[in-house]
Amino acid sequence: MLSNKTFLITGISDENSLAMYVAKEILANGGRVICTGLGVTSHHGDLSERAAQFLNTNYKDFEDAVKQELGEDVQTEVLDVSIDKSIEDLALKFEEQGVKLDGFLHAIAMDKTIRGKQVKPLVQVSLDEFCDTMNVSAYSLIRLSHHLLKSNVLQDGSSICSLSYIAAEKVTFHPYRNISIAKAALERITVELADELGRSRNIRANAIRFSTYISSKAGNATLTQKDVDTANKMSPLQNARPEDLAYEVVHLFRPEVRITGEIRHVDGGYHITG
Ligand SMILES: NC(=O)c1ccc[n+]([C@@H]2O[C@H](COP(=O)([O-])OP(=O)(O)OC[C@H]3O[C@@H](n4cnc5c(N)ncnc54)[C@H](O)[C@@H]3O)[C@@H](O)[C@H]2O)c1
Repeated sequence: MLSNKTFLITGISDENSLAMYVAKEILANGGRVICTGLGVTSHHGDLSERAAQFLNTNYKDFEDAVKQELGEDVQTEVLDVSIDKSIEDLALKFEEQGVKLDGFLHAIAMDKTIRGKQVKPLVQVSLDEFCDTMNVSAYSLIRLSHHLLKSNVLQDGSSICSLSYIAAEKVTFHPYRNISIAKAALERITVELADELGRSRNIRANAIRFSTYISSKAGNATLTQKDVDTANKMSPLQNARPEDLAYEVVHLFRPEVRITGEIRHVDGGYHITG
């Protein structure tokens, strides 16, 4: 289905990342992937020892997981979307290498107002906390698209997919505040890009709202097992599995699919419940 197609996969931390399941499914369908991981870039300046250690460990885990799960020959690159130069560097490197992308997965989210599964009340969220979450989790979709298009890496007819959550629309039963707003923005950005890039470049853009999933780093930092069990009970088909998400992304990445501007649910039907 995806032979001779190359996709950029962002947001892999380890073997449990949702993006890893998507990458595996692309390979299973004959496609190629290039993966990015969060790590130290040349633009980071003076990092504290703690921050440098966190980023280096994160990047090593990412590289090890990609090699183990996807193969030694899969290209890996560092990317910190909070630094615009890092996104630009990635796009320019691809241009130099002659990389042509048929699409990319945006699977990036960060919210420092969630700590130890406790969330800061929205009225306590600072401007910096609000903007950091918005920048990394939503605006980065615009900047990735911008730089990849500017360097002629993202080809006409490509497919962009972003990962969202039901909290973009509804208050959830578990604490989730600041990031909900960024997810709403991410979805809105996806829809606006669908119109803008569909008309100008025949490029599609869709978002998928996935079930609660605790096994990834982001899921584990946010959810409790009780949250996952509650969603499981509320969902007519029980929680969707990461594999279900991967099938849907691959479907949306298929070149012949004329689907765009969708906010899809891969959540076992959770969204139809009260
Ligand atoms: N886990 C869930 O319950 C769930 C449900 C629905 C949607 N999602 C979404 O799926 C996506 C992937 O999440 P996941 O559950 O696989 O967790 P994950 O922790 O594996 O992935 C989140 C990724 O974001 C990356 N990231 C954070 N800040 C970054 C930055 N500045 N630059 C580049 N990368 C950065 C992290 O390194 C990590 O790889 C996220 O957008 C998340 O909101 C998750």
